[in-house]
Amino acid sequence: MARVAGNRARLPDALHTFLNNVIASQCERIITPLPLPSESAFFVLQRLGVKAPIIYIDAGHEYESVSRDIALYWRLLAPDGVMILDDYITFPGVTRAATEFALREGIPLIGEAGKAVLTRNTALSITTKIIVDE
Ligand SMILES: C[S@@+](CC[C@H](N)C(=O)[O-])C[C@H]1O[C@@H](n2cnc3c(N)ncnc32)[C@H](O)[C@@H]1O
Repeated sequence: MARVAGNRARLPDALHTFLNNVIASQCERIITPLPLPSESAFFVLQRLGVKAPIIYIDAGHEYESVSRDIALYWRLLAPDGVMILDDYITFPGVTRAATEFALREGIPLIGEAGKAVLTRNTALSITTKIIVDE
């Protein structure tokens, strides 16, 4: 039993692989991993005063989870920033959460199966729509 646990401890996990890749590509000055659930990470980033130009939502895919992540991380988005939603259309919870949020905020929701964009930046939303429509 102890041997199995010992072997497991030596197996590389996703975080170690990720950290190795970050260092190997010399991106350690621009990437800061936060190995936390999305809600906890939000509070850390809020406390740090982060305002991000791009936020990519790809954590829990259930409606309640995505709704909460969109609402929380929207507060960290820079005024002209872009929020990208992974698995739009392909996961009903993502689609419903994104649609409801866009309607509530009165902003466009632009997307196709796999990705969608939420932004207050009108110029950018028009460009995104053209690219998605092509
Ligand atoms: C769908 S995977 C996407 C991972 C990564 N973006 C990728 O493309 O490889 C979701 C990841 O978010 C993490 N996560 C963080 N907060 C989460 C939450 N509130 N609910 C579910 N997963 C969460 C999970 O541990 C998991 O690694």
